Amino acid sequence: MKKVTAIYPGSFDPPTNGHMDLIVRSSAIFDEVVVAILRNPEKDPLFSVAERRVMLEEMTKDLRNVRVDTFGGLMVEYAEKIGARAVLRGIRALSDYEYELKMALMNRRLQPQLETVFMMLGEQYAYLSSRMVREVARLNGPMHGLVPELVERRLREKLEPAIKFQNARKTKAGKRT
Ligand code: PNS
Repeated sequence: MKKVTAIYPGSFDPPTNGHMDLIVRSSAIFDEVVVAILRNPEKDPLFSVAERRVMLEEMTKDLRNVRVDTFGGLMVEYAEKIGARAVLRGIRALSDYEYELKMALMNRRLQPQLETVFMMLGEQYAYLSSRMVREVARLNGPMHGLVPELVERRLREKLEPAIKFQNARKTKAGKRT
C-alpha cells in the first residue's frame, strides 16, 4: 500500500506542548508527518525560521517518521510538491473552528485532492497558544507545562535582556516614589 504523508503546517513561534501533542498523536497514525514552518516575510516573529526549525527538530528527534521543513507561498502547492495527502490542524476550543473551517475550505478549493484532518488536542492544551506563551514569557511568568524545556530555555535567553531592562526601570521608578 502507498505510504500516507501528512503535512502539519504552522507558524510555531514558538512550538508548544500543544504542537508536540499533535505531532505525537499524528505520527502514530500516518506513515510520515512533515512539520512545515511557514516562511512569512510579512510577520515580525520572535524566533527566526531557522531557530524554530532547530527547536522542532530537537523536539521530534525520537520520532522516526517525523521530519521538519519550511515552506513559502501556498501551503497546498508545497503539500503537492512533497506528495502529502492530508493536512493536519489542531482544534482546541470551539472558537478555533470557524477560522480553521474557512482555511480548510479554501485549501480544498485550491487543491481538492488534499484532505484536511482536524485533530483534538489533549484537554490540558485547550487554552494554549504560541501568542499566549510569548506574552507569559515576555512578562517573565512561569512556563512549566506550556512548552518543552528546550523551548523554555530559548525563550528565556531571547527575552532576558528585555526582562532585565523592565526590572531595572521598575527599580528606578520605585526609588523615585
Ligand atoms: O500556526 P498558524 O499561524 O495558525 O498557521 C497558519 C498557516 C501557516 C497554516 C496558514 O497561514 C498557511 O497555510 N499559510 C500559507 C499560505 C496559504 O496557503 N494560504 C491559503 C490558506 S487560507
